[in-house]
Amino acid sequence: MEQILKLLETTIKEEKLIYAVFSNIRKGVDKEFKKLKIKPVLIKNERKWHFEYEYDTKVTHENLSDVEAIDIAYGLCATYFKQAMIYALDADYQILLSKKGIPKILKKAPSRNTFDLSHNRKKNYIIEENVPNPFLHALGVMNEKGQVNKKRYDKFRQLNRYLEIISDCVPHLDTTKKIQVVDFGCGKAYLTFAMYYYLVEMLHLDADIIGLDLKTDVIEYCNDLANKLKYKNLHFVQGDIKSFAGLNHVDMVVSLHACDTATDESLAKAIEWDADVILAVPCCQHELFKKMHNPIMASMEKHGLIKERLSSLITDSIRANVLEIMGYNTQVLEFIDMEHTPKNILIRGYKTGQINESAIKEYKEFKHFWHVQPYIEQAVGKTLQERIK
Ligand SMILES: C[S@@+](CC[C@H](N)C(=O)[O-])C[C@H]1O[C@@H](n2cnc3c(N)ncnc32)[C@H](O)[C@@H]1O
Repeated sequence: MEQILKLLETTIKEEKLIYAVFSNIRKGVDKEFKKLKIKPVLIKNERKWHFEYEYDTKVTHENLSDVEAIDIAYGLCATYFKQAMIYALDADYQILLSKKGIPKILKKAPSRNTFDLSHNRKKNYIIEENVPNPFLHALGVMNEKGQVNKKRYDKFRQLNRYLEIISDCVPHLDTTKKIQVVDFGCGKAYLTFAMYYYLVEMLHLDADIIGLDLKTDVIEYCNDLANKLKYKNLHFVQGDIKSFAGLNHVDMVVSLHACDTATDESLAKAIEWDADVILAVPCCQHELFKKMHNPIMASMEKHGLIKERLSSLITDSIRANVLEIMGYNTQVLEFIDMEHTPKNILIRGYKTGQINESAIKEYKEFKHFWHVQPYIEQAVGKTLQERIK
């Protein structure tokens, strides 16, 4: 822990710290806030450290002196968080703490080199505005100077929100070896490019990413762009999720807005590969709409609009439940706020390998209540069917 204290002291006292994010709460700790972000601010011409604590439903702030900032940040590393990213002028530091609290500090070339000390500046995005970025320029989100195209601002925010989610997943991956990632239903691949940029160009991880989609023209376009950008470990393949073969192991499986039961196919592949991390944002679920029924729910089922939303929620609850049954610690999060897309449920699974018996019971009762036979059972196959017998 000495090394961490030293790192905090030098970056804070010597004013090298540009931005820091602490995340991933340790097991067995009483959870309060889930993330801490630190940045320097100027208040009445005095430099302070702005601490932003992110809770489930609120955010709080405080501005601290050097000594207070070091003290609190160090205390949280020692007892509360498992991971921190420190972006300093000289380097990016990633702090990882093992289950036993043993620290590891990875040092990479600096990815940021500018300060913004204004107190109420706009949201601190992982990919910053006004910093030229070749892939966002190529995708038409930014111009060559790094200014975000006004009409594409939603996309810019969505990409950054997505990268925050990816940054939370990193400690769940074994970054000591090459990480294999697959993005199913990648489409035009804004998010695939963003993920590559973050993992490989910003964090300098050894990662290989494959984007898969049904559309040949889109795949050609994405491969051309990856070549132009010299993203040598990013490849796009045309094909159907269900029949995708050729990889024995994948560490992280992503599917964002893959249509209808394509999400189930993607979850099934991830389970088959024993992926450490699964991210799925489902889209246009039609599967259960016609099958679900329970007379007690008549007030909801009789209105098409309500029934449609209900059937989506049932489908996603079932998917999350299946991941728990298959040994994943599963959360359902908001992907991006409602005003930007109604398809905003993100199902996230971190592999624990532990079979959750209460999840099996819940699953059976839920299925029975709705009188449904979800497609995911067929997609995952025997391993799931045997567990829920
Ligand atoms: C709505 S787009 C989402 C694109 C991208 N993931 C995003 O979030 O911007 C859905 C994509 O999934 C692809 N897709 C749907 N079903 C698929 C399947 N079974 N196998 C591969 N791709 C599929 C479609 O071709 C389409 O490009």
